[in-house]
Amino acid sequence: MEKVLVTSALPYANGRIHLGHLSGAYLPADIYVRYKRLNGDDVIYICGSDEHGVPITITADKEKVSPKVIIDRYHNLNKEAFEKFGMSFDIYSRTSLPIHHQTAQDFFNAYYEQGLLVEKKSKQFYDEKAKMFLPDRYVEGTCPRCGYEEARSDECERCGSLYEPSELLNPKSKITGETPILKETSHWYFPLGKFQKRLENYVKEMNEKYGWKENVLQYCNGWFKEGLKDRAYTRDLDWGVKVPLKNAEGKVLYVWFEAVLGYISATKELSLKKDEPNFWRKYWQDPNTKYIAFIGKDNIVFHTIIFPAMLMAWNDVKPDKYVLPQNVPANEFLNFEGKKFSKSRGWGVDVLEFLDIFPPDPLRYALASNLPENKDTDFYWKEFQSRNNSELADILGNFVNRTFTFAYKHFEGKVPPRKKLTAIDYEMLSLVENYPLKVSNLIEKFKIKDAVFEMMNLARAGNKYFNDSEPWSTIKNDPDKASTTINVCLNSIYTLAEIFEPVLPFTSKKMFDMLNAKPTLWIDSGKENLKAGHKLNQAVILFNKIEDKQIDEQIFKLNQLEGIKVTDEKEITIDDFKRVKLKVAKIIYAEKVEKSTKLLRLELDLGTEKRQVVAGIAKSYSAEELIGKQVLIVANLKPAKLFGLESQGMILALDTDQNEKVKIIEIDSSIAPGTIAK
Ligand code: 2FM
Ligand code: ZN
Repeated sequence: MEKVLVTSALPYANGRIHLGHLSGAYLPADIYVRYKRLNGDDVIYICGSDEHGVPITITADKEKVSPKVIIDRYHNLNKEAFEKFGMSFDIYSRTSLPIHHQTAQDFFNAYYEQGLLVEKKSKQFYDEKAKMFLPDRYVEGTCPRCGYEEARSDECERCGSLYEPSELLNPKSKITGETPILKETSHWYFPLGKFQKRLENYVKEMNEKYGWKENVLQYCNGWFKEGLKDRAYTRDLDWGVKVPLKNAEGKVLYVWFEAVLGYISATKELSLKKDEPNFWRKYWQDPNTKYIAFIGKDNIVFHTIIFPAMLMAWNDVKPDKYVLPQNVPANEFLNFEGKKFSKSRGWGVDVLEFLDIFPPDPLRYALASNLPENKDTDFYWKEFQSRNNSELADILGNFVNRTFTFAYKHFEGKVPPRKKLTAIDYEMLSLVENYPLKVSNLIEKFKIKDAVFEMMNLARAGNKYFNDSEPWSTIKNDPDKASTTINVCLNSIYTLAEIFEPVLPFTSKKMFDMLNAKPTLWIDSGKENLKAGHKLNQAVILFNKIEDKQIDEQIFKLNQLEGIKVTDEKEITIDDFKRVKLKVAKIIYAEKVEKSTKLLRLELDLGTEKRQVVAGIAKSYSAEELIGKQVLIVANLKPAKLFGLESQGMILALDTDQNEKVKIIEIDSSIAPGTIAK
């Protein structure tokens, strides 16, 4: 039995998590954790919200509310999204809790007291108009390494470089748009360079022992090659963990230096909840713990260099020593229908929105089958549909369904005995018996995508075995053979219920309920777990097919939203704008589109013509209240079909950013339908 500590990157509580997040640091970790639990290992799985840092204060500034309002909103929304998606965290904590502030300050003090931190004066960006220092992402400019024009003040998203803010070219304040000046301030620096040799050895040793991913190693080696430099440990900011020194007014710990400690403080919180104050030490401070940190590729340096260096620096002077990550299986990014997820452009779909429409398991399966393990991958709606319909429903669902139907029809809903085993049965039994190990070997190496492929292969093999055994004919001329076939199929379904549990936890539970059984130890799940005579429960449908209509609606909505939202900051000419024909239209009839939760079919009067428009506003308006209202429509938009209905234009509405609610732009009834807006 292994003692395993698993963490997933703490997402910023400044926005809703989307499918890209799930694919990077969450779903693979959850699959790993669920498998480890079934394998009998002693596992804890830790996560929570990252509630400090500039992304949060920027969002708060934009909405003119306090950061607390933002973090409360998104912590709760994301916690709910993770729960609905079936994430099995032992705790989902938050870094605004006092226990986290205390932990982060303890670490700072440990470094300060050993004289490790270097106080340095440096020039930082200062916005004279806003009268404040501009940390990190408040400044944008050109990357000094690769020339990327939208680089952040200390970090380039494109080439991954970290640099001092003073190196950024052509800086601009994100608050006022002014060119900031460089003004002197003083900060404490963590001497990363001092740890370079030890960090290189650490990465080398972990890779030799546990096989790190190539992309992770490459990042680390790039950093080592460039040479590790001192990093400012503090920032001039109000929101965050206060620097625990007397002369440090207005300064907080740099969010990355405290967020990684959030893993530890969250485990401490879990200990308090369990009423076992030292529980966290059993994992963090036991040299036998296998600590795996799941992250997305943009977090690599913080988990393979900065966090390990921080733990080393603590361990150097304190008796209670921490374990370092044994592996950091970072994923690349998931894109959405060929483009990067973008909240501002309305491109992508967030988790809660998705789970409002489709159940979690098909999403887990589709994402897991397409994880960006070695390169960026894409989520396509059509592919999601086909994974659900052609794999989950047609292969796994079908195998379970036909077996249960047969068992009820011919064997009174009981597991029939094995009576007459022939070569084909032995072959299937041996395949099933070896399957759990085959899958676990892949998961242990973080080859989750391959593991999921293998899981479905067992269901494929089950269908083939069923077909080749032809129980529908043997039941008539050789019933002992049919009995054997169904016994083997039911036991294979047991194995499937278990090995699919990490990916399809909700479905696995239904399968075990149908089998009237409980999971066993992973390695034993390929054995004869259902004995002859065992009573089954009634079967339920495991997967519903997703219709074309449902998918078309999503694609339409995506394109419609992208159309509405500002696609980029670039200016357009008056001629560009003139191409858009905006007209006043009167809604003369409205009704819900059948089987759609979001769409209304509207009949519009444009003065000289009538139009039909399908609008995604059913969550904001009832059909009745719209009739008689006048709205603005884009009249020369290329028609699109959805739910079999042609939509001839698009209604303009205001995005309230509240749970998909929009507000139509109403036009006074004194204006005649068909009037052109310019
Ligand atoms: O990239 C992010 O969303 C960060 N909030 C991840 C932090 S991971 C760890 F440091 F907590
Ligand atoms: Zn760059």
